Amino acid sequence: MATNNPSPSGVPNGETHTSIAADYDLSKPINSTSGLRAGLTSYGDAHFSLFLRKVFIKALGYSDAALSSPIVGIINTYSSFNPCHSNVPQLIESVKRGVLASGGLPVDFPTISIHESFASPTSMYLRNLMSMDTEEMIKAQPVDVVIMIGGCDKTVPAQLMGGISANKLALPLITGPMMPGSVEGTRVGACTDCRRYWARYRAGNVDLEDIMSVNEELAPTGGTCGVMGTASTMACITAGLGLLELRSAATAAAVSSARLRVAEQAGRDAVTMLKKDGMKPQDLLTRESFLNAIIVLQAIGGSTNAVVHLMAIINRHPTVAGTIDLNTIDEIGRTTPLLVDLKPSGENYMGDFHNAGGMLALLHTLRPLLHLNARTYTGQTLGELLDATPFKSFTYSRQIIRSLEDPLYPSSSLVVLYGNICPDGAVMKASASKNRKLLHHRGSACVFENTADMAKRIDAPDLEAEENSILILKSIGPVGNPGMPEAGLIPIPQKLGKQGVVDMLRISDGRMSGTAGGTIILHISPESADLESVFGIVQTGDKIVCDVEKRTLHLEVEEREISRRITERKQQSQAAASSGQPSDNASGKLEPWLERSGRRGYRGLYEREVNQAHEGCDFGFLTAKGPSKSQ
Ligand code: FES
Repeated sequence: MATNNPSPSGVPNGETHTSIAADYDLSKPINSTSGLRAGLTSYGDAHFSLFLRKVFIKALGYSDAALSSPIVGIINTYSSFNPCHSNVPQLIESVKRGVLASGGLPVDFPTISIHESFASPTSMYLRNLMSMDTEEMIKAQPVDVVIMIGGCDKTVPAQLMGGISANKLALPLITGPMMPGSVEGTRVGACTDCRRYWARYRAGNVDLEDIMSVNEELAPTGGTCGVMGTASTMACITAGLGLLELRSAATAAAVSSARLRVAEQAGRDAVTMLKKDGMKPQDLLTRESFLNAIIVLQAIGGSTNAVVHLMAIINRHPTVAGTIDLNTIDEIGRTTPLLVDLKPSGENYMGDFHNAGGMLALLHTLRPLLHLNARTYTGQTLGELLDATPFKSFTYSRQIIRSLEDPLYPSSSLVVLYGNICPDGAVMKASASKNRKLLHHRGSACVFENTADMAKRIDAPDLEAEENSILILKSIGPVGNPGMPEAGLIPIPQKLGKQGVVDMLRISDGRMSGTAGGTIILHISPESADLESVFGIVQTGDKIVCDVEKRTLHLEVEEREISRRITERKQQSQAAASSGQPSDNASGKLEPWLERSGRRGYRGLYEREVNQAHEGCDFGFLTAKGPSKSQ
């Protein structure tokens, strides 16, 4: 018999009791598609599914009254292997405060967590796995809106990819950058300075004691790398997409109180999205949102990795996919100046950018270039949001965030090159070149067939290279070295480093860290592992011409000779595959392009399904277009 008194199990009075009792009314269907009643597990009896779900969640101490609220899922990517996410427990606590204060029920759940330095072979190899995990857990569990906490390089891209594909209400929450450290009074930070000190150590300019003490200071707090690397780039791009609060959400330090307030506000915003019929990612994000993100990418001198991630994110979107490609990124670059003076293109750290006004100041500066009609998570357009949040204190910020009239670099911080060596494109961060003469350069190739070959020969005194040579590293593309390692920053050969050479034109089908700098061409597509690839048949001594102004990269070898080399390579590889012997590619391994069809497990799935860099290195079957028929 029903009672108006609370039962020992916490069943409440009145109206709530009536609605809870409806869950047990077998004569009526379950009458809600939100909260705990959404997405019921299949047992063939929806009432039993809900009954059972309640049985189990009550084991965690929830009452029926609490379970009647809309559920805000919080993705927990904490891991003791991920210092970039060390503040996630505090962020979750703050989000929960915001959710509870607004009438929602916060429920956190884990997905995998990936840190750059703890993932082998690379974190990129696991990005698509994380995106699948994110998509499927959002879809599978009864969350009405989800807050995706991420920060380290591959995490935010994976969450945006998964979030768009899942297409439930979603808000990203960034973990935030670390603070800089200090070496003999000079500020240092991961990871531009990691590479700078390591290069000096390799050249014999820093001794063992000093490099050991520098190691203590490069990452002095938790949080993401404190320069404009991939993590910071993706945070700024996420704000450019209209998915973050503008003043602090992209830039506030991981260890700051501001970061906790951002988290609390995200909790409140998530409930507001629910109450005000917020837009799901596929409706909220339009072509204009992504064009704004690309404008931000160019203006901040963002990481080359972000180009790959953006293409993967765009290609998850059913209506935007196919409307933006690498050409779009290059075209936007021609009219977008580099404004933000941060390492590796400039001199400062993320904390300086935040103190100068961060994304709010930058977007106000970029206003004439932006698509102001793009929607934001608030329900307002970007133009309305900027009108509602003015930024006036440019006195200090102009040192860090330059004006359109006085940019750091006039245009095209990221450029896309095409030519016979990269018919589907290649990417270069021109603004990070340390020797701008190399932006227009002709030289002889010095070829390393793979990373093992490079490690063996790069410091040999008889290496066939001089300062005008072009260093080539093959077999670090999406399939050739699964995950496309950040080995594109080919070290300056020791014999040249000792002569004072600090930059050379370097070309690979891999990636480089967003925190690195130099005249470096990356993401050659198609990669050398593809037996049709022209990049795969470049030999030491071949002449290569790079002309950034014309956006060309050309191998000066006659067409007939290129065809001959490709045919010869295919024949050698096929013969080696049939005999089970390694082919003569200096790797001591079978050609990965041929080998990939027979592998088991995630590695097999990855090698069979990953697409090329210009498409985002996503799995074909995860894209909005779906699996390619030829795969
Ligand atoms: Fe995580 Fe750099 S290692 S952001």
